[in-house]
Amino acid sequence: MRRPFVAGNWKMNGSKASIRELLDGLNQGIAGVTAEVAVCPPSIYLAEVAEQLDGSPISWGAQNLSQEASGAFTGEISPAMVKDLACTYVLVGHSERRSIYGEDDALVAKKFAAARAMGVKPILCVGETLEEREKGVTEDVVGRQLDAVLELEGISAFNDAVVAYEPVWAIGTGMTASPEQAQDVHAFIRQRFASHDAAVAEGLRIQYGGSVKGANAAELFAKPDIDGGLIGGASLDADEFLSICRAAS
Ligand code: PGA
Repeated sequence: MRRPFVAGNWKMNGSKASIRELLDGLNQGIAGVTAEVAVCPPSIYLAEVAEQLDGSPISWGAQNLSQEASGAFTGEISPAMVKDLACTYVLVGHSERRSIYGEDDALVAKKFAAARAMGVKPILCVGETLEEREKGVTEDVVGRQLDAVLELEGISAFNDAVVAYEPVWAIGTGMTASPEQAQDVHAFIRQRFASHDAAVAEGLRIQYGGSVKGANAAELFAKPDIDGGLIGGASLDADEFLSICRAAS
């Protein structure tokens, strides 16, 4: 049985004060949630988040990391720093990193490898644009994004990783994929892994992301290959995020 996993991607939002309030709300409401829960704050707040979540069942992760170990890379955050802040997870290949910051499949694969080398679990984000979906090449695109990592790191790397399917057209748009649309791609992803190793594929948690809210979470999570969610906007509100976590529990 795969334990459902809900992660909040706060993106570039929040302040010391708003984060304190949000985490207070999450800590108060988390009892009874059986799904695994994590939050991914902006890196500059990771130390404070770690402190406030000490003793909480909620874990934390970074939104990005450098593929380089250390040195003259102004503005970047190394894998060792992510580890030093006790991050359990790190997002890799989020579509905003791919589209706004030009991260290609090869770079994403290197970041995935750099995280694993530090013992930080990557959440590998994949997904097609609206244009790609309309052209009918969703599986080609997602397959290519997965293969770049599989070729570099091998199937066993996914024993300890998570995949997040996030159709780009559903992110922050209010246009959620239907449960059926999401399930189709999740099943394709699991099948792709199964062609390498059935046991790894069976154990792999595949989150759905893209306009998940309290109101639509349960029907998405009811699908057999959807193992929780990666939540953007709705993770900034404690009650809304908790209702998603409960839907996964
Ligand atoms: P959204 O973002 O929930 O605001 O659509 C999801 C994500 O980008 O991870």
